[in-house]
Amino acid sequence: MAYERKEISIENIRAQEAICARIREMLTARVGQPLAMVDTYGCQQNEADSEKLRGYLAEMGCGFTQDEFSADIIVVNTCAVREHAEMRVLGNVGQLNHSKKAKPGQIIAVCGCMVQQEHMAEKIKNSYPVVDLVFGPHDLWHFPELLLRVMTGKKRVFATERCDGYITEGMPLKRDGKVKAWLSVMYGCNNFCTYCIVPYVRGRERSRRPEDIVAEARQLVAEGYKDITLLGQNVNSYGKDLDCNVDFADLIAMINEIPGEFLIRFMTSHPKDATEKLFKTMATCEKCAHQLHLPVQAGNDRVLEAMNRRYTAEKYLRQVELARSYMPDLVLTTDIIVGFPGETDEEFEDTVKLCEKVRYDAMFTFIYSKRVGTPAAKMPDAATREQKQVRFDKLLETANRISAEKHAEYIGKTMRVLVDGVTGKTEYNLSSRTNGGRLVHLKGDEALIGKFIDVKITSGNTWALYGEIGE
Ligand code: SAH
Ligand code: SF4
Ligand code: F3S
Repeated sequence: MAYERKEISIENIRAQEAICARIREMLTARVGQPLAMVDTYGCQQNEADSEKLRGYLAEMGCGFTQDEFSADIIVVNTCAVREHAEMRVLGNVGQLNHSKKAKPGQIIAVCGCMVQQEHMAEKIKNSYPVVDLVFGPHDLWHFPELLLRVMTGKKRVFATERCDGYITEGMPLKRDGKVKAWLSVMYGCNNFCTYCIVPYVRGRERSRRPEDIVAEARQLVAEGYKDITLLGQNVNSYGKDLDCNVDFADLIAMINEIPGEFLIRFMTSHPKDATEKLFKTMATCEKCAHQLHLPVQAGNDRVLEAMNRRYTAEKYLRQVELARSYMPDLVLTTDIIVGFPGETDEEFEDTVKLCEKVRYDAMFTFIYSKRVGTPAAKMPDAATREQKQVRFDKLLETANRISAEKHAEYIGKTMRVLVDGVTGKTEYNLSSRTNGGRLVHLKGDEALIGKFIDVKITSGNTWALYGEIGE
């Protein structure tokens, strides 16, 4: 890969933090205690990016709100993966007219994957005058400088540099919870699945150095985090761009060595290069959850090839078998696209058959959405929306039935769970996760949040399990 690794130096980040201090003075003089709202769409990578935005905003002196009418600064962090995600963003950005009218001087920024696409940045420029600032994922590291330009100039600011992406270390971070944390291990994607926009908006694959990741994990454990999810579009490519001979399995083993009681999870794994070494490492590292998200996308070989997934259904099934041979209790989940251009009813049936064979604990199913600039967008697509909906409904029914059956197998068992938050309901007020990541609702004291406890599973449905805390 002719990709040149580009790092944003720590001095550059410090300069951004100095700008934060300047903005803090300006904001305090203007409004007293400033409030910011960060609205996040899309995947965990975007959640992780929003934690960086909040890190900068906190250094600007901002408190946080969910109410757009009280916010002085609104940042909408967008997703481009499907049309539905974009429509939701545009609808909500349009609504911000009202808050801005009610609160003159409110600054509205739209960032993330959606606006990294030229046509979308143009659309915001032309049709959403309420937006003051637009920046893509590659420009996040200098958000303070961009914001300052908005605050001191009279013009709207657009920063969507076309590039392969950077590695940045040392950005301030404000994490959402106290129990679960996201930890990005790599950025970007080189796979160019033919339907997918991610490689175009997130740039080339680039791995953080293992020592930086381990140091961050160590810090998280010291701060009391109990559940660390390593993030990358395809973690199995981790390290390929580094010169230090550490692959993803090695990285898990290194994090596993950190003393303390915590769980290591990760996503996402591309089936084309999940290795036996990875499964073995997952099985032998006692802190690594036996949970694997292994998106299959389709169960038919012609469709898989047209998607440029680079594996066959048979190879995929062999991998599942191999993973389960190391971890009989493995919780396996997947993503599936229904109605890829040219998919026939018969080809779709192969997907259903594969799911019946694998019996996933949970499936995330999507109807194909055409993305501007991707190869699949130019493929003939004869099936109607109605036909695709029929397929989708059938797959969802299969998925829900299997999940419910799998959950029923837990009833009567005692499981170790991590209590991770409140549900807001009185009957089952706590939520928790099994080692494999299944959701268990419980009734108990909120002081249990952040603790590993044993619970007896009493019932379950498609979406969740319910349990009782032992004496
Ligand atoms: N890097 C991850 C996926 C990121 S996108 C991986 O390779 O597994 C999350 C999911 O969105 C994908 O797995 C796919 O199922 C779905 N998806 C991506 N592009 C899509 C599109 N154009 N239409 C419908 N679903 C899509
Ligand atoms: Fe998209 Fe494929 Fe990359 Fe996943 S691996 S982000 S589906 S191109
Ligand atoms: Fe969406 Fe960007 Fe994630 S397109 S799914 S937010 S990488």
